[in-house]
Amino acid sequence: MDLIKKVAGYLTSSRDVVALTGAGISVESGIPPFRGKGGVWERFDPMEYASIQAFEKDPAKVWRVLLSELKKVVDRAEPNNAHKGLAKLEKIGILKTIITQNVDGLHQKAGNTDVIEFHGNFAWHRCMNCDHRTDTQSLMLDQIPPTCDCGGIFRPECVFFGEMIPPEAMWRSRHVASNCDIMLVVGTSANVEPAAYMPVLAKKSGAKIIEINTETTPLTGHISDHILLGRAGEIMDILITEVKNLSQLEPAID
Ligand code: APR
Repeated sequence: MDLIKKVAGYLTSSRDVVALTGAGISVESGIPPFRGKGGVWERFDPMEYASIQAFEKDPAKVWRVLLSELKKVVDRAEPNNAHKGLAKLEKIGILKTIITQNVDGLHQKAGNTDVIEFHGNFAWHRCMNCDHRTDTQSLMLDQIPPTCDCGGIFRPECVFFGEMIPPEAMWRSRHVASNCDIMLVVGTSANVEPAAYMPVLAKKSGAKIIEINTETTPLTGHISDHILLGRAGEIMDILITEVKNLSQLEPAID
């Protein structure tokens, strides 16, 4: 509790906070993480189902096993208190940008306006033949793989293993990480590069690094200054209350 108060103090005296988020922030919205107990990669080998080579070789298999399930989960997910807390921090002028590894669009749904989608998104799908785009809600899965009127196969606009990070996302992430004074690292195992390098870059540039996670990560006690251990939604709720107390801005952030 004292540590949460301390972190709330850091946040209220900062005006350039950046968040790096990962799958753990969406767990309380019903979306499973990738690693650890109950994680997606416990059931599926990522190289067999989430690499660009696997998708190009057999798009029907990847759609049937992984993507159709992911689409169902993402279509019905709603932002939880952790997403909403980050949206409040933006609203009161503390949080500037979110770099997210997630493809679920929940930060935008919660109200954040500057979200860098480091691994692309699942909100849009693109025909691999004619480049026609369709939003995920309109994409029908009565036929697997889903196809465009031209006969081409749709793929999500997310980054498969083996693909490049979208250059603008990479460039902007490096820029905001190098210029923030606090980086909140929420719900990521910090195992996947180059996203995991962003807290390192922020630290090298003089920022404080605060993790929120149910477990320690490779950043803990080495790159991060503090870790708030617990579920992101619950921790964020307490943190926002403390920020409200300190900044007395309650009406503006409700
Ligand atoms: N609150 C906070 N943290 C949580 C919660 C929760 N409720 N539940 C799980 N976590 C933490 C776990 O302890 C773990 O550290 O979230 C993290 C999830 O880690 P990963 O599943 O590895 O997710 P992420 O770090 O986003 O993965 C990075 O790997 O497979 C790729 O492309 C995929 O973008 C993804 C990337």
